[in-house]
Amino acid sequence: MNHPVRLGVLFGGRSGEHAVSLVSARSVLETLDRDKYQVTQIGITLEGDWLVGDDVLSALANQKYNSLSPAAMLPVPSRPQVFSLKKVEGAELLEVFAELDVIFPVLHGSYGEDGTVQGLFELNNLAYVGAGVLGSSVGMDKALFKDVMVANQIPVTPAILIRSSELDDMEAVLARVRDFNQFPVFIKPANMGSSVGVHKCQDLEEAAEGILDAARYDRRILIEKGINAREIELSVLGNDHPRVSIPGEIRPAAEFYSYEAKYHDDSSELIIPAPLEDEQVNLLQEYALLAYQSIDCLGMARADFLVDKESGEVFLNEVNTIPGFTPISMYPKLWEASGLSYANLIEELIDLALERQQEKDRIIRKYDYEG
Ligand SMILES: Nc1ncnc2c1ncn2[C@@H]1O[C@H](COP(=O)(O)OP(=O)(O)O)[C@@H](O)[C@H]1O
Ligand SMILES: [Mg+2]
Repeated sequence: MNHPVRLGVLFGGRSGEHAVSLVSARSVLETLDRDKYQVTQIGITLEGDWLVGDDVLSALANQKYNSLSPAAMLPVPSRPQVFSLKKVEGAELLEVFAELDVIFPVLHGSYGEDGTVQGLFELNNLAYVGAGVLGSSVGMDKALFKDVMVANQIPVTPAILIRSSELDDMEAVLARVRDFNQFPVFIKPANMGSSVGVHKCQDLEEAAEGILDAARYDRRILIEKGINAREIELSVLGNDHPRVSIPGEIRPAAEFYSYEAKYHDDSSELIIPAPLEDEQVNLLQEYALLAYQSIDCLGMARADFLVDKESGEVFLNEVNTIPGFTPISMYPKLWEASGLSYANLIEELIDLALERQQEKDRIIRKYDYEG
């Protein structure tokens, strides 16, 4: 590319992790070299409206949108652009606001990390940072993710799945939890993040409450055997030949790594590198790479493990396809500890997105049959 790369940075979003996205986006925006990148900020409000204009990030952080214009992208491949919408004599006009070569969705959770917005970029034929539709949606769905891990012989915690339609007969649901018999259990909405709706339950009574709360967030609820565990995370980076970082450890400030402990209590600790035997490090790295490839991740992901405090047994808890990018986030910190600076990491992610797009452009999509 002989012009600066025209980069869209997309942040905010319709998710419980809106505020976290803004903090991640601030770090990403501050680090970008403006000689290399011509940056367009695109914000998504909590209601899902897209906005462009001056300093979108601050406007979103202050929830003051007056200075911004509504924006949109079109699901057609001839137009990798972001438009602003103008009202003129009762009609709404689309005006090209910026041409884009690539977009970085610095979004977390629903509508950001779950494949939905990735689907829009695909239709738009726009290069984007991170996993595609498949990797994003499987990475986001804790239930389907487990099935894929089991199929690839990657250890995960035992679990049962409950559908909210079953809740009409709570007794039958609780009978299933009793038969599962793995207290304490962790109860979680299948499609959420940031520990929203996650409950540690010691008995059936607590489980009943946990299930009802988790059902507020999703149709599908996972009930998992609770592990008395250390929490170990590894960063993965790359497309077809991904590499994996050293492991880091989270020591949560609370009984588990709850929303409160993640974002409101700064006494949670990050320990890099995690104190582990070499053999265990190798095993975690192997599982992290295998999990990454088995759900077809691209660009980046953070693999989060639970390591039993007594037996040392390892379980893959989840893969986050858009990990946090704040200055204290584990994903960039692990790369820094491996010698890759925050700024170089962001540049590499953008390069990987552009590389992936070139590869997609080479794929033949029509078949000329001359029979
Ligand atoms: N099976 C489990 N055993 C022990 N702790 C768990 C288990 N599942 C979740 N946790 C705790 O709950 C936290 C949030 O659960 P997680 O599955 O990572 O959901 P989220 O996607 O919201 O981060 C974890 O970081 C961990 O502290
Ligand atoms: Mg987690």
